[in-house]
Amino acid sequence: MNTAICEIPKLESKKDSNIHPHQNFVTRDKRNEDLGHQSGVVWLTGLSGAGKSTIASLVERMLFQQGYTISILDGDTLRTGLNNDLGFSKEDREENLRRTGEVASIFANTGHIVLASFISPHHKGRESVKSIVGDNFYLVHVHADIDDCISRDPKGLYKKAMFGGIENFTGIGQEYEKPEVTDLTINTSDSCVADSAMQLVSFIKSKFEL
Ligand code: ADX
Repeated sequence: MNTAICEIPKLESKKDSNIHPHQNFVTRDKRNEDLGHQSGVVWLTGLSGAGKSTIASLVERMLFQQGYTISILDGDTLRTGLNNDLGFSKEDREENLRRTGEVASIFANTGHIVLASFISPHHKGRESVKSIVGDNFYLVHVHADIDDCISRDPKGLYKKAMFGGIENFTGIGQEYEKPEVTDLTINTSDSCVADSAMQLVSFIKSKFEL
């Protein structure tokens, strides 16, 4: 039998010199002026059950009511659609964040304040998102003690993971690398949802004013 040796194509990068990203006439600056605030990405990292999505949802509501153009990108939501081909290995989590960073960046360039709520457990993934987004990227650690997350367990996932039902579950089968440097840390073991949300609202107002 003739066994041909095939060259395996490199999949890491498919940069193509025939691709020319479009330059929009309506620039980010014009949009920011019109909307009355700067745009960018507020990246919420933390364990499952720490309160990222709860805080994001409350902050979105409060700031929207005050006239801010604000949107949420949430891990569970993106994993239901755009990222539903990805799992929870280190590599898949990185790809999950890379795609999300690109989407968040488009939103930021079109005037939104993006609340991105992702466990994002590894320094490398968070750094890659930061470099994709560029200006106006803020890292917020929504911290809660692991014991509190386990006792809250809003989705019943810790229980399942502890009985071996979920591979690579963050905090049980896979490490959460605590960020060394953050723009803000909210400790939800010490403060209630309303206080935590207010901390984030004040932070966003101070950073995104024109
Ligand atoms: S990330 O690590 O890639 O940033 P992401 O925030 O998108 O994670 O998704 C986390 C959500 O996926 C959790 O809120 C939980 O509902 C669900 N999930 C399912 N399996 C896992 C797992 N092994 N580790 C963490 N979260 C998981």
